Amino acid sequence: MKVIATITELQQTLTPLRQGGAKIALVPTMGALHNGHLSLIAAAQKQADIVVCSIFVNPTQFTDPKDLEKYPRPLEHDIKMLTEAGCNFVFMPSVKEMYPSYPTPENWKIDLGPAEFVLEGEFRKGHYQGVTQIVYKLFDAVKPEVAFFGQKDFQQVLMIKNMVLELGLAVDIVTCPIIRETDGLAMSSRNIHLNKADREHSLALSKALFYIEENYTTQPIDRLVEQAKAMISSVEGVELDYLTIVNGDTLLPIKEKASNNTVALIAAKVGETRLIDNVIIN
Ligand code: PAF
Repeated sequence: MKVIATITELQQTLTPLRQGGAKIALVPTMGALHNGHLSLIAAAQKQADIVVCSIFVNPTQFTDPKDLEKYPRPLEHDIKMLTEAGCNFVFMPSVKEMYPSYPTPENWKIDLGPAEFVLEGEFRKGHYQGVTQIVYKLFDAVKPEVAFFGQKDFQQVLMIKNMVLELGLAVDIVTCPIIRETDGLAMSSRNIHLNKADREHSLALSKALFYIEENYTTQPIDRLVEQAKAMISSVEGVELDYLTIVNGDTLLPIKEKASNNTVALIAAKVGETRLIDNVIIN
């Protein structure tokens, strides 16, 4: 696997491959890779000839500077994982490479629809402008035909699809299922911050979602949400930001049950670590 740090080298490498007919896939990440990321690489390998994984901890999507500072960066471990997975290229640019005028902000404001401002958008103001800004830059640098994202960041995938539509980009967006630990915790780069007690308490999130999933057909929506919230509040050290059952396009809570496009989403602080998770109900 080749490690590339500049857009110029990336393009010099990929252009002849593309001209030779290779289909190029991009798996954008912020590193601290786990099996969830590897499932994205594996899905990309099935659909494309060349897989580029990017590792870039994007400053413009962090609303809390402390969160940016403490974001894990185990680069050697990440490179080893990607090499073993048979990834072709890893693109690891510097902040200056992606944002030449950093820390002076660049102009970026696109219409992502009203769903930008709910759920994560409410708790992390401006987050999805930062996410779409860097994903646009990565698409522009790699020029992939297809890009892979994890369903764990459900709202993020919706925002990226909205950006692709808004800007008319020729990139297919593929969403891959959540990969969980055997006890149900959704894999996340942030799980590394959980101490032993937090790790135990973190199971409250997936348990509450599985409760909703299992009882969806038999209980009214209000009761499902109420019960699931009670499950969370009974666990020490877990502070709920939201737990909601929504329409998967608008991300607005549903009042009546629907037969498709229904998602339950949760975000909570477990100790000092903020976690998100979701289940697609139908
Ligand atoms: O999901 C992530 O890791 C990041 O938000 C992404 C999509 C790589 C953009 O920085």
